[in-house]
Amino acid sequence: MRNVDQENHATPGYSEPGKQKAHATPLLIKLFPFMRPHVAKYAILLVLTALASIIGILPPFMMQIAVDNYLSHLDENGILMICLLVILYGVFGGLIGFCSTYVRDYLGQRIVMDMRIKLYQHVNQLSFSYFDKTRTGDIMARVISDTMQLQAYMTMGLINLATNIVTLAGVLTILFFWKTVIGMIFLIDVPFILIGMHFFSRKVAPANQRIRKANGIIGASIQDCLSGIREVKLYGREQFMLKVFDTWNDEYYNATIESNKQSAFWMPYVPFLVSASSGVVLMIGGIMVALTEFTPGQLIATVAYFTLLVGPLRMITRFLGMHAMASAAGNRIFDILDLQPAIRDLPGAFSVSDVQGHVQYKNVSFQYAESHEILKDIDLNIPPGKVVAFVGPSGVGKTTLLHLLPRFYDVTSGEVDIDGKDIKSFTLESLRRNVGIVMQDTFLFDGTIADNIAFGNTQASKEMIQAAARIARLDQFIESLPNGYKTPIGERGVFLSGGQAQRLSLARVLIMNPKILILDEPTANVDAVTDRQIIDAVRDTMKGRTTLIIAHRLWTIHHADMIVLLKDGKIEAKGTHQELWEKSAFYREFFASQIQPESLNGAEGKQS
Ligand SMILES: Nc1ncnc2c1ncn2[C@@H]1O[C@H](COP(=O)(O)OP(=O)(O)O)[C@@H](O)[C@H]1O
Ligand SMILES: [Mg+2]
Repeated sequence: MRNVDQENHATPGYSEPGKQKAHATPLLIKLFPFMRPHVAKYAILLVLTALASIIGILPPFMMQIAVDNYLSHLDENGILMICLLVILYGVFGGLIGFCSTYVRDYLGQRIVMDMRIKLYQHVNQLSFSYFDKTRTGDIMARVISDTMQLQAYMTMGLINLATNIVTLAGVLTILFFWKTVIGMIFLIDVPFILIGMHFFSRKVAPANQRIRKANGIIGASIQDCLSGIREVKLYGREQFMLKVFDTWNDEYYNATIESNKQSAFWMPYVPFLVSASSGVVLMIGGIMVALTEFTPGQLIATVAYFTLLVGPLRMITRFLGMHAMASAAGNRIFDILDLQPAIRDLPGAFSVSDVQGHVQYKNVSFQYAESHEILKDIDLNIPPGKVVAFVGPSGVGKTTLLHLLPRFYDVTSGEVDIDGKDIKSFTLESLRRNVGIVMQDTFLFDGTIADNIAFGNTQASKEMIQAAARIARLDQFIESLPNGYKTPIGERGVFLSGGQAQRLSLARVLIMNPKILILDEPTANVDAVTDRQIIDAVRDTMKGRTTLIIAHRLWTIHHADMIVLLKDGKIEAKGTHQELWEKSAFYREFFASQIQPESLNGAEGKQS
C-alpha cells in the first residue's frame, strides 16, 4: 500500500474537506424532528414488523407440536391441520412482508426528501463566507449520499433492530419456558458475541474511515479535473491528475479490501458460536429426552431456534456498524444544519421600500475571516442619483467595498447607510431588492435566455424582458437566433461569449429596476464600441438611480459625478477626473498605466 499521507502533501487541496467536530447530542435525538411527522407510519411499521417477527418464531413451535402431539400418535387430521397452518402462515407472512416493505420504503423516501429539502434550503441561506471555505463537492456529498445513509439507518436500521430484538426475546422466552438449562446455554454465548463485536468494530472502523476519506477526495478530484479541464490539457497535467486519482483509488481499493477482509473474518464467528452451542444443546437435550425431561419435538424445535438466532444476532452486530456510519453522516449533515447564517435579519429588521438611494460609508473597515484588513477607514457620501466610479489597482478591494452594500459580507467596523439608516436595520430581502449588482463574473442558469433575464423577476412580461435586453445591447443578437428569447443556454442551445454573458447579466439586473445599481467592471469583456453603447444606454437608465461602477475605461469614468481612487485599502483621493488629475500623482500614474487608451477616441483630452 502506498503512503497516502505523503502523497497528500504533494497535492495540496486534496486533503479531507472540513474537519469533523464531535456533536454532543445523541444522533437519535437530533434525528427525531425528521421522524416526528411520520410517527403514525412508524407505529404501523413497528406493529407489522413485530407481527412478522412473531410469525417468524412460529415454525419450530409448530414442528414441536407436530412431532410430539400428532406424529408420535400418527394423528392424520392433526398433521393435516399443521400442514394447512404452515401454508396459511406462509401466505400471511408474505402479506405482512409486502405491507411492511412498502411502508418502510415509503417512509424512507419521505424522510430523505424532507432532509434534502431542509439541507438545500439551509445551504441557500448560508452566507458567502461559508462558501468561501467549503468545497462544492463536499456540500453535494452531504446532500446526496449522507442523507441516504441516514435514511437507511432511520428506516431499515432502526426497524430491523426492533424486529430482531422481538425475535430474540421471543425465542429466549420459549427456550427458558421449556428448559432453563437450554436457555442458559444460549446466554453463555452472549459475552463471546459481545467480545467478537467489539473486536470487529475496532478493526473495521478505521478502514471505513479511510474509505470515506478516499471517496471524498476521489469526488473532489473528478470535480476539479472536469471544471479545470482546459487548464489540465493546456499545461499537460493529465498524467499528474491521473496520478492523484490513481493514488486515491488505490487507497479506496485497499481500504475496502481491508474492511471486507475484516467482515469476512468476523461474519462466520457468530454462526460458529451458535452451531457450537447447538451441538452442546443436542447432547444435553438428547440426554434429557432419554430421561424424559424433554420431548423429541422440543429438542428438534430447540435446535431450529438456535439456528434462527443467527440472523438477529448478526443483524444487531451489523446495526452497530450502521450506527457508526450514520453518526458520521449525521455529524456532517448537522454541521451544516446547526450553522447559523453569518448574515441574517436582525431582530426588528423592517422591509424597506421607497429607497431614495443615498449611500454612505461611515468609517468602514473590513477584513475577510482570518485575513489582513482589506479596507481601512472608508468614508463616502453619495447623494441619491449620482454616478460614482471606483478605480484602483487590481486586488485593492473595489469589489469587496461594493459587496458590503448588499450585505454579501458585513463590515468589520463602521457602518454602511442607505437613506441615513444602517443597512443592517433592513430585511436582507428588501435590501437586496433595492440594490442591483452586475458581478465581475456571471453565472448563467440552465434555461432559456428569457428565463435567465427574468431570473430575479419571474413575473416580468415579454416586453420588459425585451426592453432590458435592448438596453444591454443584446437584443439584436437574441433576435438573430432561430428561437429568439426561447433559445436554451448551454449544451442544448447557444453558447454565450464572456461579453454576451455580461450583457445578459446587465439585462437581468435592469429588469429588477433597483434604486441602487452596482456595476463591477460591467464592460470588461466587451470591445470599446460596445462599451460606449452600453454605458450610454445605462446612463439613460441611471437617471434617478444611484450608480456605483468599477471601471477601467475613460469613457465610463468621464461620465461619473465623482471618482473614488483606492490605494492600499484606503481612499487615496476622490473628486472629478479634473480634480484628481491635478491633485494626485498616484492618479496620474495609475491613469497612464491602467486606463485603456482606445476608448479615448478624442472624446476628451484633459489628461494630456
Ligand atoms: N472571498 C474572499 N475571501 C478572502 N479574501 C478575499 C476574498 N475575496 C477577495 N479577497 C481578497 O481581498 C482583496 C481585494 O479583492 P477584491 O475586492 O476582489 O479586489 P479588486 O476588486 O479591487 O480587484 C484581495 O487581496 C483578495 O485576495
Ligand atoms: Mg474586482
